[in-house]
Amino acid sequence: MSEALSITQPAVDAIVAQALAAIASASDLNELKSLRGRVVGDQSAIAELNAQLRNLPNDQKAAAGALIGKARGELNAAYSARESEMFLAEERAKLAAESVDVTAAPSHSRFGARHPLSLLMDQISDIFVGMGWEIAEGPEIENEWFNFDALNFDADHPARAMQDTFFVEPVESHLVLRTHTSPVQVRSLLERELPVYVLCPGRVFRTDELDATHTPVFHQVEGLAVDKGLTMADLKGTLEHFARVMFGPDAQIRLRPSFFPFTEPSAELDVWHPGAKGGARWVEWGGCGMVNPNVLRAAGIDPEVYSGFAFGMGIERTLMFRNDVKDMHDMVEADIRFSEQFGVTL
Ligand code: PHE
Repeated sequence: MSEALSITQPAVDAIVAQALAAIASASDLNELKSLRGRVVGDQSAIAELNAQLRNLPNDQKAAAGALIGKARGELNAAYSARESEMFLAEERAKLAAESVDVTAAPSHSRFGARHPLSLLMDQISDIFVGMGWEIAEGPEIENEWFNFDALNFDADHPARAMQDTFFVEPVESHLVLRTHTSPVQVRSLLERELPVYVLCPGRVFRTDELDATHTPVFHQVEGLAVDKGLTMADLKGTLEHFARVMFGPDAQIRLRPSFFPFTEPSAELDVWHPGAKGGARWVEWGGCGMVNPNVLRAAGIDPEVYSGFAFGMGIERTLMFRNDVKDMHDMVEADIRFSEQFGVTL
C-alpha cells in the first residue's frame, strides 16, 4: 500500500490550486475534456486523496471527508463553469463565422448582355404578336425574283441599282443578298392562307461602307397585312399604335407621298418622337403603302377581292433616334459595355 497522503487543509488546498490552474490553462473544449480525468475524475489527485479516507482512523474520517468533499465540489463547479463558458464561446465563434450580411451588395458574375438590336426586334415582334400577327422569316440569300421582280421592280428599274445590291456568283444563279425584308411579303403570301398578318424582322445587306450612319449589314422589320377590305386607314391605325408603344402615348405619325414599286400609293413614314434628345421632333422612320396589285397578282391573289398594306423600317436607325445612339460602330462592335446599357443581362 502506498504511503498515506495526509489529508490536511494545506494538502487539499494545494491539490485544488493545481487542478484549478490546469482547468484555467485549457485553451479549448477538447483540451478541457482531455483534462477531465486528471482534475476531477478517477485519476485526479483529489480522487486519490479520497481513496485514503478508508485508511484513516474512524474518528478522523468525518472531518477529512468533509474537507475532500468541499474540495471536490469546488473543482466540479469550476470545471463545469469553464466547460459551459468555452462551449458558449465556441458556439458564438461558429455563428459569427457562418453569419451572412443581408445588407451587403450582391456580387454578380457577368454573363453578358443581349444585343440591343435583338432586344428591339423582340420588342417590336411582341407588339405585333399582341395584335394577333404572326412572325415570318425568309432567307438572307434570296432569289432575285423575290427580292425585285415579284415586288414589281422592272428588270432595268433604277431601284435595283439604287439599292446597291450584293449579287451572288455566278450571275446565272440569280441570287442576291436580300436588300430589304420585302421579299418575305411575297413568300408569306405564297406560303400562307389568307388573310395574312405577318411581321418579318431580319438582316439585310447593301453595298455601303461602314461609317457612323451606314453599315453594309443591317436589320429591318417588315409588316404585311392582306385581307378583304383593308384601306390606308388600317395602315395608319396600325402604325399609330406601333409608334405609341415604341415612343410613348404622345407619339404621332405622318405619311408623306413617296414611291416604292411594290406599294401604291406609297408613303414615307415620319414619327413625332416626344422623347427625342434635344426636344420633340419629326423623324423619318420608314416606308409604307398599300400593296401594289401587281404584287398580289405575283402571289396569285385577286386584287379585286383582297387588298393589303405593308411597311418597313430599319432597326439600327430606330435604335439610333430612339435611344440616342450616335455611331453605327457601337452597334456592330458588340462591346459588352455598350450592350449592358440597355439593361438586360442574361
Ligand atoms: N423595303 C423598303 C425599303 O427597304 C421599305 C418598305 C417596306 C416600303 C414596305 C414600303 C413597304 O426601303
